[in-house]
Amino acid sequence: MIFAGIVAGGCGSRVKSAVIPKQFIEIGGVPVIVRTVRAFLAVAEIDMVYVGIKPDWHEYTNELFERFEIDSRRVKVIDGGADRNGTVMNIAEAIVAEHGENEGDIILTHDAVRPFVTEKIIKDNIEAMKEHSACGTYMPAADTIIRSDGEKVSETLNRSELYQAQTPQTFRLGDLRRNYYSLSKEQNKKLTDTCSVFTACNEDIYLVVGDAMNFKITTDSDLRMANALAELNEK
Ligand code: CTP
Repeated sequence: MIFAGIVAGGCGSRVKSAVIPKQFIEIGGVPVIVRTVRAFLAVAEIDMVYVGIKPDWHEYTNELFERFEIDSRRVKVIDGGADRNGTVMNIAEAIVAEHGENEGDIILTHDAVRPFVTEKIIKDNIEAMKEHSACGTYMPAADTIIRSDGEKVSETLNRSELYQAQTPQTFRLGDLRRNYYSLSKEQNKKLTDTCSVFTACNEDIYLVVGDAMNFKITTDSDLRMANALAELNEK
């Protein structure tokens, strides 16, 4: 089976204007999390979508999904973890508890706060898994990136070798659990990105090309951009 794991267990502290976690904010009248879940449900190859959220937002999320007529047969809300990878792993364990361990099962892990993920990116992730054992979505760096201590520039990096990570990041469920549980607590704390769990285990990650529209809503200016984009798309 093919699962989507939407990580939505954060509190969005960098969006200073928000009074609720950013994944629940409405853009163009539709909450961010609803847009993201809909993007995955629109892809027929996705069998089930699991959403990991903070326990105190569980009921709110179920009600929201009902209000926006999200297909409850294909979507399940579960409790997230203390950090992003914790939420990914709670989703992985919930899937195994309900569907068992099946060798061919894959999971596309995705940030709830990237609502403009394209159908192409989702399908390219699924396609890549036919030939590769793990893949992630990346954008070639557009800006020059420098190394600095915050005061002075110490190095200008070679842009042609630099990419920005987006999501989805896609894995075989069995590999994800094996690799994650093989890490020490210290490694776990440092590795916030799930693909980096795989690179720490010397596993190859295939590159799927991302899209500038698939940006992550991190700050207030991202939220303004998301509102503008929603308005433009829905004209
Ligand atoms: N996330 C999660 N579980 C956590 C922490 C984060 O599922 N315990 C999710 C967020 O909900 C988000 C994604 O990971 O969809 C990317 O993280 P980020 O943008 O850092 O979200 P927040 O942690 O919510 O934001 P902030 O760091 O500003 O508080």
